[in-house]
Amino acid sequence: MITVVGSLNYDFIVHVERFPQPGETLHGGDVIGACGGKGANQAYAAARLGGQVSLIGCVGRDAHGDTMLQNLIQVGVNVAPIIRRAGTSSGLAMILVDAHGQNQIIVARGANLKLTVADVEAQAHLLKSSRIVVAQFEVAVAVTWRALELAHAAGATTVLTPAPYEAFDPVLLRHVTWLMVNEVEAGQVSGVPVTDISSAERSARAIVALGAANTVVTLGPQGAWVESESWRGHMPAPVVQAVDTVGAGDCFTGAFVARLHAGATVRDAARFACGAAAISVTRNGAQPSVPSLAEIDLGA
Ligand code: RIB
Repeated sequence: MITVVGSLNYDFIVHVERFPQPGETLHGGDVIGACGGKGANQAYAAARLGGQVSLIGCVGRDAHGDTMLQNLIQVGVNVAPIIRRAGTSSGLAMILVDAHGQNQIIVARGANLKLTVADVEAQAHLLKSSRIVVAQFEVAVAVTWRALELAHAAGATTVLTPAPYEAFDPVLLRHVTWLMVNEVEAGQVSGVPVTDISSAERSARAIVALGAANTVVTLGPQGAWVESESWRGHMPAPVVQAVDTVGAGDCFTGAFVARLHAGATVRDAARFACGAAAISVTRNGAQPSVPSLAEIDLGA
């Protein structure tokens, strides 16, 4: 079992030619509504790509909450641990995507911030019986760290995406088996800015030196650098034309853990995740862009 602890957001996405300057108004395309949120995206991707997945999170008692739960149920995610809290709105994200497929995102966390440490402790049995537990920073960070602590103490493989980035005490990395970061986050965690593959390698080594057992630095079109106990190296990504990169990192993480859970080697899981994320950027939205298993070259 894979358990994800994290956010659910309903995304409002508008395509623009370029991002506006402060104070500037621009015309955009039609609004695209899609299910998102880093936690839900990771859970959705892991389930669509073969994992048995539960999600611990919180949504409001509103229409967006209904839609997001239904979308997860469709791919087999166990949504029973998701709390429906009255008096709060489900998380929403306002997203701009430019002509190069790059994005800018503002998240109104809403119900995601109503997930408490006590809620996570109430799911201790689930966390302790999971082989892999995945978390991010889109719910309160105290909730994330408590989930990782409980899971790690029980022997689970723990995976943290520290996004949106908030500085943390590196001592906490003792609870983390895999730290999954993009170029920017790698620089923020390690203090080694990432500009290319060789700086990604230096940054990844610095992250491991700080206390994470393993790390993956994702590099967008350049693939990823993997620094692990069993394999270290650069995994290139298939060349594609990106139209929307929203959720690509979440798709990578979901695919990676689904494959690890299925018994793949780290190298094969990284290749699979690069393939899944590359397909996802050719489509709009976070969850709608996650490919099926059949679409990904398993490299067999
Ligand atoms: O990582 C992409 C996600 O970030 C979007 O789906 C949005 O909801 C924000 O959480």
